[in-house]
Amino acid sequence: MTGLGDITGKACLITGGASGLGALYAEAFLQEGAKHVAILDIAEAKGKETAEQLNNTYPGKVTFIKCDVSDEDSISKCFNQVVETVKQLDVVINNAGILNDSPALWRKSCDVNWQGLVSFSMRAVKHMRKDEGGAGGTIVNIASIAALIPVGSTPIYNGSKAAVLHFSQSLSQAPFEETTGIRVLTICFGPTDTALMTELTGRVYNEKMGEDLVGVIAEITIQKAESAVAAFMAMFKNGPNGSVWLSEKNRPVQDITPKLQAFYNSFTN
Ligand SMILES: NC(=O)c1ccc[n+]([C@@H]2O[C@H](COP(=O)([O-])OP(=O)(O)OC[C@H]3O[C@@H](n4cnc5c(N)ncnc54)[C@H](O)[C@@H]3O)[C@@H](O)[C@H]2O)c1
Repeated sequence: MTGLGDITGKACLITGGASGLGALYAEAFLQEGAKHVAILDIAEAKGKETAEQLNNTYPGKVTFIKCDVSDEDSISKCFNQVVETVKQLDVVINNAGILNDSPALWRKSCDVNWQGLVSFSMRAVKHMRKDEGGAGGTIVNIASIAALIPVGSTPIYNGSKAAVLHFSQSLSQAPFEETTGIRVLTICFGPTDTALMTELTGRVYNEKMGEDLVGVIAEITIQKAESAVAAFMAMFKNGPNGSVWLSEKNRPVQDITPKLQAFYNSFTN
């Protein structure tokens, strides 16, 4: 490890940090001594409220910036605003995500879950890369167990998360870390107790399939958000560049990189 897993004194940008898991990462980072957390989210009222609450406990350490990660102009403006105002950026957590495969919103979900994440990742690389004057850092990309297991009722969400996983793995390939001083981490969560997992009917690609998913969800273990955050923090502290982690069913986080590597090797050996 290169000290990239240390949190004390780090400045962090979290997309989708107004609520859900993103807000909990913000709090966990502050508890562990982060210097600053910039929360970027489309939900302005909730984002301001979350920032205010955190600033009550950690005065002046949290900034909220309204940002739509599906919009390139908004991403550009907000990323630059963080760099100019915080003047330090060590960690980018690409967490914003929606689950909506409905005819009206599937393209938006691809923009949020996939295009926005790519844009923030490439901006983070450009800003942090040591070979071009940056200080190195960490990019964390939030995938899902949906990237590992096909689900018939949410093919678009699953596809976007598979893209996140494979993009992150590909980006991290040698000599990426040696050249840039940046590590890329990916975490796949199983179903976790947040707004994303509630009221699924209407957010699947058709209602008939929606019934199926709701039935499946009712029978599986939805893990606590606290378990997901503990998994995230363990990964952040210990994960080497290119590693992929699985957090599900309230179990300890699992490094699944060897399993994925064996799968990839089966095609190349
Ligand atoms: N909850 C789960 O079961 C689960 C499982 C696997 C992966 N994930 C992933 O974890 C991440 C966080 O999800 P969550 O469970 O906390 O969901 P959530 O719905 O509770 O929170 C998502 C946050 O993203 C924000 N957001 C939505 N669209 C945005 C946009 N266009 N621009 C900026 N911000 C936007 C929302 O306002 C919200 O604050 C997502 O990427 C999700 O896909 C969640």
